[in-house]
Amino acid sequence: MSVKLGAAYYPEQVPRERWAADAAMMREAGFGVARLGEFGWAFLEPEIGRFDLDWLDEAIAVLATAGLRVVLCTPTAAPPAWLTTRLGTEVLPVGADGRTRQPGSRRHYCPTSEAYQTHALRVVAALGDRFGKHPAVVGWQIDNELGCHDTVRCYCPRCAERFRAYLRHRYEALESLNQAWGTAVWSQRYSAWEEVLPPANLVYRPNPGHWLDWCRFSSFNVERFLQLQVALLRKHTDGHWIAHNFMGRCDQLDHAALARHLDLAGYDHYAPPDTSPGDRAFELDRIRGLLGKSFWVLEQQAAQIDWGTCNPLPRPGEARLMTLQAVAHGADAVLYWPWRAPVIGAEQLHGGVLPHDGRPGRTFHELQALAAELADLPPLGHGQAPIAFLRGEADRWALDGQRLDESLGPDAYDRDLYQALWGTGLDVDVLPLEADLAGYRVVVAATRYLVGADLAARLERYVQGGGLLVLGPRSGTKTPDNQVWQEGPPGPLSALCGVRVLEFEAPGSSYPQSIGFDDGAWFAAGGWRERLEPAADAEVVARYLDDFLAGEAAIVSRLHGEGRVWYSGVLGGFDFADHFLRLVLAEAGLTPMVAPSGIERRTRQSAQGPLHFVLNHTAERKAISVDEDGVDLLTGAPCSGILELPPYGAAILAATRSASPGVLP
Ligand code: GAL
Ligand code: ZN
Repeated sequence: MSVKLGAAYYPEQVPRERWAADAAMMREAGFGVARLGEFGWAFLEPEIGRFDLDWLDEAIAVLATAGLRVVLCTPTAAPPAWLTTRLGTEVLPVGADGRTRQPGSRRHYCPTSEAYQTHALRVVAALGDRFGKHPAVVGWQIDNELGCHDTVRCYCPRCAERFRAYLRHRYEALESLNQAWGTAVWSQRYSAWEEVLPPANLVYRPNPGHWLDWCRFSSFNVERFLQLQVALLRKHTDGHWIAHNFMGRCDQLDHAALARHLDLAGYDHYAPPDTSPGDRAFELDRIRGLLGKSFWVLEQQAAQIDWGTCNPLPRPGEARLMTLQAVAHGADAVLYWPWRAPVIGAEQLHGGVLPHDGRPGRTFHELQALAAELADLPPLGHGQAPIAFLRGEADRWALDGQRLDESLGPDAYDRDLYQALWGTGLDVDVLPLEADLAGYRVVVAATRYLVGADLAARLERYVQGGGLLVLGPRSGTKTPDNQVWQEGPPGPLSALCGVRVLEFEAPGSSYPQSIGFDDGAWFAAGGWRERLEPAADAEVVARYLDDFLAGEAAIVSRLHGEGRVWYSGVLGGFDFADHFLRLVLAEAGLTPMVAPSGIERRTRQSAQGPLHFVLNHTAERKAISVDEDGVDLLTGAPCSGILELPPYGAAILAATRSASPGVLP
C-alpha cells in the first residue's frame, strides 16, 4: 500500500494479555503502523539509571508478528515523578507569571535545563542502543508536540541567564543591543548585561526589539533540545528516519528551523471547531513546505477530540475525508490518535479508533473501508505548485506584539489570501522565508513585516526574472530588529512596489471602508488601511471609495523587469482577497476551478500521471463538472462530465482520456 494507516498505541497502559488482540485488530483494520513510547519514560526507566526496555521489545514483537511496523518516540514529553522530585526547580519550567509550573500533567520541563537534558539523553541513548537497528522500526519521533501547552517560553532564572548569553553572542557589544532595541525610549538603556531580563510581568508593553529577541531565543532553545536528541539518535540508528510531530497553530516555534535537523516532517492533524477545511489545508501545505517533500501525519483524530471549545464527533465520512485531505496535501501515512479511547488518564473523553469498550464500532469500520480503498493506490509524489505562499515566524511574533486593533492577530494578514487561493483549486506551496522561489509563477508574500536588505533583494530578483509578487499591508515596515525603517513603510520594498505609505490606521467598524476595483467590483473592507502614494511608474488597481480617502489608491501595481508586483494597503475580507488574487492569477495564466463552495481540489503525481483529489467538505451532496473522463481510484467508479460526491465524500480522479490535468475547469 502506498499510503499507510496506523495508530498511536500505549502498551504501558494496556494489560499485556490484550496486546495481541489489539495488534490483530489493527491488521484487520488494514493498518500497517503503530506509534509507541512518547509518554512511557517512567516504565522505560523506572528509577534513575535502571532501564526496563523488555516490555517495549515484547510489545514491538507482538505488533511485528501481526505484520505491523513501528514508529518509536523518545519519551521526553513526560518527565517521570522520580526525576522532577530529584531535580525540582532545576527542571520545572516557570510561567510568565513567575510561578513554577508543577508536575502532574505533561511537558513540565524547562527547555534549557542541562540536568534534564542529561537524563533525557540517557534514556534516548538507551532506546537508540536497543532499537536503533530493529527491523520492525521504521522511524523515530523526537519528544511529542514540542511547544504544546505554552511550553516554549520559560521564565526561570536559568533561562534569563541563557537569554543574556544568547544576546551577548548575537550583539557582542552591549551598545549594539541598545541600538538594536532602541533603548533610548523610556530610559531602557542598559549599562551592564546583568540588567537584561526576560520580558515578563511588565507594567506596560515590552520593547519590540526585546520581545522579538525573546521569541527568537525561546524557539532556539527548543530547537537545540531537539537537535541534541537527533544527533545522539543518529549514532545509534540505521536506516530509520527521524521526525517530529509538529502542531498546527503553534506560533511560538520556528518550525522550519527545527525541521532542518530532521529527515521527515510529521504533523498532528486535528479539526477543532474554530478551524475551517481551508485552515487545515494551510497547515498541511505548511508542513509539506518545511522540508519540501511528503510527510507523515503522526496523529489524526479518528473520533471526537476533547480540547476544543466544543467537541463534535466527525460525521460519517469525515474521518475518511480528513485522511484523504492529508494525503492530498502530501501525507504518505496517517496515524490516528489513539488506537482506543482512553479508559484512564486525563483524556478519557477523547475518542479513538476503538471506543472505550475496545470493540470495533462505526469509526473502526469507516477506517477499515478506507484502508481497503487505499490499498491499490500507486505510490504518490508531488510536483512544484504554481503558487508559493511565504510564511515567516518572526513576522508573526512582531505583528502579534503590535496589533493596533485587538482583533488583528498575526493570522489576519495571511488568512483570507490563503483561503482565496484554496478556493481556486490551484496547488499552493507554503514555504519558509528562506525557500528558493525559482519556478513559481506567483509568490504571495502577504505581510512581510520585517524586511532586511537580503529579503528585499531576493524578492526584487524574483520579480525582475518574471515572477508575480503579491504583498499585503504593513509589509516592509520594520527592520529585522523590529524598528520602523527610517524612510517609513514599505522600507526597502518601496522602489520595487512603487509606493510609499503616508499614513495608516486600524479604523474599527465605525468608519465606512469600501474598496472599488477598475472593473467595477467593490467590497467592504476592514481592519487595517493605509494611505498610499503611488510612484509615477505605478498603476492603481483598486481605490478607497469613501471617507476622506475616497478616490485614493488602495492597491498599487508596478511592472518590474519581466514581472509585476502588487502592494495592497488594505485588509479586506475573503471576497476582496478572492477578487484581488483572481486578477493576479489571470495575469499568471492560471485558471481557477469552477466548483461549489466547500469543494477542495489538490493534485498529487504518480507514475500513471497526475491524480486529482476532489474533496467535499460540506454536509450536502455535490455535483461537480469535470472536463475529462476519469476513474475514481478509491471506488473504481468511472466518471465522465459530472462527478457526484456524497456529504463529506471524496474521490481521487485519474484521467482515462485527455492529457489535460484540468479537472473542474
Ligand atoms: C495531541 C497530543 C496527544 C493527545 C492528542 C489529543 O496534541 O500529541 O498526546 O493529547 O493531542 O487530541
Ligand atoms: Zn527555564
